[in-house]
Amino acid sequence: MSEAHAAIDYGSYLRLDEMLALQTPQSSPEHPDELLFIVVHQSSELWFKVLRHELDALITALEQFDTMRALLATQRVNVLTEIVAQQLSALDTLPPQRFAQFRGYLGTSSGSQSAQFRAIEATAGLRDPHFLATISEHGDPPEAVRAALSREPLQTLVLALLAHDQVELEALYMGPAPTPMFLLVEGLLEFEQRFARWRFLHVQLVERIIGPLTGGSGGTLGAKYLSRTVSQRFFPELWAVRTKFYGR
Ligand code: HEM
Repeated sequence: MSEAHAAIDYGSYLRLDEMLALQTPQSSPEHPDELLFIVVHQSSELWFKVLRHELDALITALEQFDTMRALLATQRVNVLTEIVAQQLSALDTLPPQRFAQFRGYLGTSSGSQSAQFRAIEATAGLRDPHFLATISEHGDPPEAVRAALSREPLQTLVLALLAHDQVELEALYMGPAPTPMFLLVEGLLEFEQRFARWRFLHVQLVERIIGPLTGGSGGTLGAKYLSRTVSQRFFPELWAVRTKFYGR
């Protein structure tokens, strides 16, 4: 170990002084619930950062036609997505009348301005006109989102991997035993499900705190707008293959 590394301890390695100074409630006098509100958002953004990193690893593995590495990356992506969804429940303890006491201090800030969230959606594969309109709502899309849009959607990459291995998507569901490719494809579907679970838990949280009809600080119809996003799909072909077993 070098001398410089020996001097590193828990606080300096994790830069805790800087990190713990980043929660700055705006309410005055400070509302006792605003710290929780900030921390759930900040920690979600931290997990989004790791999620984006792991999605990059997944894309690299798919581009290299490396099924096992893609499978491992998908497993991690799925755990991270679950964590980020579950932490919304901390805000279920924020009653509506108490949020109303400090909501005015947030200005026009809204989760819909989260560049990382949009970058994750773009990386996963959203390209529909509604999504493209959403990312341009606050001016030019942020660099992270534009970079994500310039890559192939995950579904295209996984279908290319199947073609490379000369396996039909449908055939994965026919074989006598599950293959790594089957587990990968089902793992990606699981990612979609967990992401949609975040959307659902978030819309329920929004309804619980501001009600079904209150507009959002980002200018949308609030819960009404959000509930429509729950049915967005990253992997329409992975869903569609199921119907083949049941006819129309
Ligand atoms: C008191 C809790 C919360 C309320 C009342 C709330 C409310 C809203 C509302 C009304 C919207 C729609 C856009 C708008 O008009 O503002 C929205 C979008 C969004 N919020 Fe929240 N939110 C809360 C917590 C969170 C948390 C903890 C996160 C985590 C990062 C988050 C992330 C997002 C994201 C990413 C969007 C965009 C979703 C999309 O367009 O599909 N929100 N939120």
